[in-house]
Amino acid sequence: MTLRLGDKVPDFTQDSSEGQISFYDWAGDSWVVLFSHPADFTPVCTTELGAVARLKPEFDKRGVKVIALSVDDAESHKGWVGDINETQKTTVNYPILADVDKKVSDLYDMIHPNSLNNLTIRSVFIIDSEKKLRLTFTYPASTGRNFNEILRVIDSLQLTDNHQVATPVDWKDGDDCVIVPSLKDPEVLKEKFPKGYTEVKPYLRMTPQPNK
Ligand code: BEZ
Repeated sequence: MTLRLGDKVPDFTQDSSEGQISFYDWAGDSWVVLFSHPADFTPVCTTELGAVARLKPEFDKRGVKVIALSVDDAESHKGWVGDINETQKTTVNYPILADVDKKVSDLYDMIHPNSLNNLTIRSVFIIDSEKKLRLTFTYPASTGRNFNEILRVIDSLQLTDNHQVATPVDWKDGDDCVIVPSLKDPEVLKEKFPKGYTEVKPYLRMTPQPNK
């Protein structure tokens, strides 16, 4: 199944390192980062899952639940978690889906056989509280992902939802934002952006980050 931005993501029930998970029920009203990795007991994956555990408070702050997935079984995940905790100096504090029958991998198109046969590659799905897909990207098995970039995208998406600003190239939390082009009424602009804005061009209007 090809999932496109804005689509409602499919629900599923699957086993995990924390028991059976019904995805929609588990997600509740939270945002979700669902990410796959190729296999348990592999080096890059070990560093990635450790990094996500260390970043969990940052995901919590943004109202985001995290959930990992590979096609290994739950017993394998539980054994591997011990290694992740030991080597990455952390405690894995989120579930890892055990997608042995590839039900979720197929639903979300996480297996790309011409890149890596029969195993999930490094897919990421950012899903909002309405279960809408807001970002997806796919990395090859040999390249570990930057989970701080995923947090940066969540910040940008939530700023757009809550304050009608977009974020420019290389934006970091605290930098100026861009007012979305659809906002034109000067009275609305004054009300929404009390800190003011700079009109570089009629279509390029910069304003201090509204929630700072
Ligand atoms: C890894 O996690 O290190 C890895 C997994 C599959 C292929 C290549 C690297």
